[in-house]
Amino acid sequence: MAAADGSHGVVWPGEGLARVPYDLYTDPSIYAGEQARIFRGPVWNFLCLAAEIPVPGDYKTTFIGDTPVIVVRDLDGAINALENRCAHRGALVCYKARGNARMLTCAYHSWVYDLKGGLRSVAFERGINGQGGMPDSFAKSAHGLKRLRVAEYAGLVFASFSDAAPAIDAYLGPEIAARVERVLPRPIKVTGYNRQLLANNWKLYVENNKDSYHASLLHTFFTTFRLNRLSQKGGIIVDASGGHHVSYSIMASEQTDRAYEDAAIRSAKQDYRLADASLVAGRDEFGDGISLQILSIFPAFVMQQVQNSLAVRQILPKGTGQTELIWTYYGFADDDAAMDMIRLKQSNLVGPAGYVSLEDGAIGGFVQRAIAGATGQASVLEMGGRGVESQATRATETSVRGFWRAYRQAMGI
Ligand SMILES: [Fe+2]
Repeated sequence: MAAADGSHGVVWPGEGLARVPYDLYTDPSIYAGEQARIFRGPVWNFLCLAAEIPVPGDYKTTFIGDTPVIVVRDLDGAINALENRCAHRGALVCYKARGNARMLTCAYHSWVYDLKGGLRSVAFERGINGQGGMPDSFAKSAHGLKRLRVAEYAGLVFASFSDAAPAIDAYLGPEIAARVERVLPRPIKVTGYNRQLLANNWKLYVENNKDSYHASLLHTFFTTFRLNRLSQKGGIIVDASGGHHVSYSIMASEQTDRAYEDAAIRSAKQDYRLADASLVAGRDEFGDGISLQILSIFPAFVMQQVQNSLAVRQILPKGTGQTELIWTYYGFADDDAAMDMIRLKQSNLVGPAGYVSLEDGAIGGFVQRAIAGATGQASVLEMGGRGVESQATRATETSVRGFWRAYRQAMGI
């Protein structure tokens, strides 16, 4: 059933968004469909922080789905996104993670592109001693690097393959946009990176980020040291498309004060204490008491505030059962030395070996291993009801269902 839709024979259960077929995480034809219909479709894909390429000529290589992409600051200061594939024979044009260049030269045959992707010169174009060379009819103007649409929002750089993607602020919607701006209110500095390979389909990690239900159950560090409990004030915002979400919580002030000001961090077990309470000592830097904000933008981008640990997470699919996860940590350009130290210490909470997010790197693999052979079966998503809407609780899977609403819309399933 390779029809015009993206279903590839997957039949969605009658329960709707309260069920998710396991085949979606394992079927190679679904994976191929996602590349075309989602990542190269009418969405905005995160590429980098603008602060990573501050100077004209600065570039970074990354991916949109499977597709290799160069993001480069042009000599006029604008940001361009180009497919990282030589128009000649398909080699990577930029093979380094980052650099600075006036021109982009393919290593294979020295075809040279400007920073807008235009082909500027071809080695031996006129041949050697009047022999060989390109035909007279060869037009360099017809052989540039494919250029993508670029949008920058609050210092986040996005690109789209599709003219049908709406303007970025309309794509985000006002509620999500406000929460993006909340954690990017002024110039930032990039403080470091982590990368990890996850042994699971990319969507399992997307779901994990949208799943506030698991946080205090899977992550014993959170609960033991009262950093994140579902009893805390908080909630979930889901945008109209379903594809974006924000989860947030507010630490009760008496807990916050005790945790921050002395070593008396209370735990579920009275004998459990952090030997060094400065690990979680921080500041209410945004002035609203929100100590945890996880935000996702469809299809595969996450922004994290875990106390004062700020990061963006780029989720890159690498086949049906493997995903690369890239963490980029940031602070603000005007952070003082004490704030630098707070962020550095709290960076121990997240990342591949983080006291909290360690488990997220493993749990998707547990699912991927368990759904082998589960063709025709589906997972259950009924916490917080069966619909998609913002809720004043985090004991819900509303934003996970929201992802699947946007996914089905994009895939035509
Ligand atoms: Fe988690």
